[in-house]
Amino acid sequence: MAATPQTAQKMIALGHTVRIESGAGVAASFSDAAYEAEGVEVLADTSRVWSEADIMLKVRGPSTEELGRLKRGAILISFIWPGLNPDLLRALAGAGVTTVAMDAVPRLSRSQKMDALSSMANIAGYRAVIEAAHLFGRFFTGQITAAGRTAPAKVLVIGAGVAGLSAVGTAMSLGAIVRAFDTRPVVKDQVCSMGAEFLELSFEEDGAGTGGYAKTMSPEFIEAEMELFMEQAREVDIIITTALIPGKPSPELITEEMLKAMKPGSVLVDLAAERGGNCRLTVADAVTEVHGVKIVGYTDLPSRLPAQASQMYGTNVFRFVEAMTGEDGINVDLEDEVIRGSVVTHSAEVTWPPPAPAVSHQDGASAPADTLTPSTPSAPATQSRPLVTLAMMVLVGAGLLGLGRVAPPEFVGHFTVFILSCFIGWQVVWNVTAALHTPLMSVTNAISGIIVLGAMLELKMPVTSVSSILAAVAILLASINVAGGFLVTQRMLRMFQRGSSDE
Ligand code: NAI
Repeated sequence: MAATPQTAQKMIALGHTVRIESGAGVAASFSDAAYEAEGVEVLADTSRVWSEADIMLKVRGPSTEELGRLKRGAILISFIWPGLNPDLLRALAGAGVTTVAMDAVPRLSRSQKMDALSSMANIAGYRAVIEAAHLFGRFFTGQITAAGRTAPAKVLVIGAGVAGLSAVGTAMSLGAIVRAFDTRPVVKDQVCSMGAEFLELSFEEDGAGTGGYAKTMSPEFIEAEMELFMEQAREVDIIITTALIPGKPSPELITEEMLKAMKPGSVLVDLAAERGGNCRLTVADAVTEVHGVKIVGYTDLPSRLPAQASQMYGTNVFRFVEAMTGEDGINVDLEDEVIRGSVVTHSAEVTWPPPAPAVSHQDGASAPADTLTPSTPSAPATQSRPLVTLAMMVLVGAGLLGLGRVAPPEFVGHFTVFILSCFIGWQVVWNVTAALHTPLMSVTNAISGIIVLGAMLELKMPVTSVSSILAAVAILLASINVAGGFLVTQRMLRMFQRGSSDE
């Protein structure tokens, strides 16, 4: 469902009227009554809705018939796969529809709340483990009981992107021994922080492509990783593969030889089944058995958790509706990078692919690699930095020497410490990756606390001397920082608190 009772209620709160087809949510356990209770109009006959709706929310793209009924100027929000459906794009543009493709959301920190692909990958990773657990004839967790000792199941996850990490977390929580491998070494910390083991090759090649996605690896690398998988195949009970390369067929990573090497009763869940599979023996949308290994090739894993998928997709869709709701009605702001990246038709024109976004290293991600042109690193900026730093150090040194000739020695001592701490602080903050800025903020709280204490000791009433005025200013600024730090930390903690998030 593109809207659950909960997300529909949020859209109503924004001032919209929400209408839904009777019975549309039943398969996802959302009854008509649940929608009605939130103020949604449930319609038995939806024929007029198409021609009246300003915004149409769907999961899959429209059929030709549906498209013909949409009014000009309407906004359609659904999965579109613009790269695969050029005819649909032309038809949507011809019908004067503004189309938001939920599968084209640029991967920026800011757009995570709209990122339906990540939501679905998360669910697919979870469900992959559940499917494996269902087919595996033994416990995941190790047990010692009167009836004997059971060793924990061993799970190997290949590809630790969104789906892979979700699978790692789920398998860990079921008590399995989990190992993961990815071509992008940046994910090692994420895997280890979940308590799983990150497998490494002695072969050095970074698999990070553009926009946080993976690139195609060299044949030598693939060969080296397949040797590793062969070794692992003999040991593990369950393999979950999620290795995908945007716009390319999935790499073959699990061979028939490996399946033969696996123990009878083992399970392979191939999440890349939709794009050829990471094992050529995977049959899309089916469970098959080859050499005693069950191979799961389902391509509809998110739909197998319909209520969860609807809640997450509905929230992603709602975020778009929210972003497009202005003070005076609906407004498609193409200046906004996230909206521009996702809008694939507008004003009777096909607007896909969008212009390459300005990739910031802080986001670490953007549109799929095949829609981007490689950016050349700005050499002058990187080369001039050491020179600028050196010049600044010489200037500061000369300034301190000059000051030393006139100022009292005690002042020069304190001042040197002050300048050095500014320099070190600046270097530390500047070199911290954006992803760690929030925790950094919490740490600076402690520093601000020290400043407040020091300033309180220095403050003398009435506040007339220069040092007292500076101390008062320091107390004010550091207190603002402490309060702000607590607010941000609180917000961050809320994001991780189970149950409190509806996103
Ligand atoms: P994906 O579904 O395209 O690929 C899955 C994983 O398979 C990737 O981690 C990839 O490195 C790995 N892989 C590819 N070829 C492989 C091979 N030969 N052997 C082993 N592993 C292989 O990736 P996904 O999950 O969609 O996202 C990848 C990354 O993008 C995330 O880890 C994250 O860093 C970033 N991202 C950023 C978002 C944002 O900023 N809004 C949203 C979602 C993801």
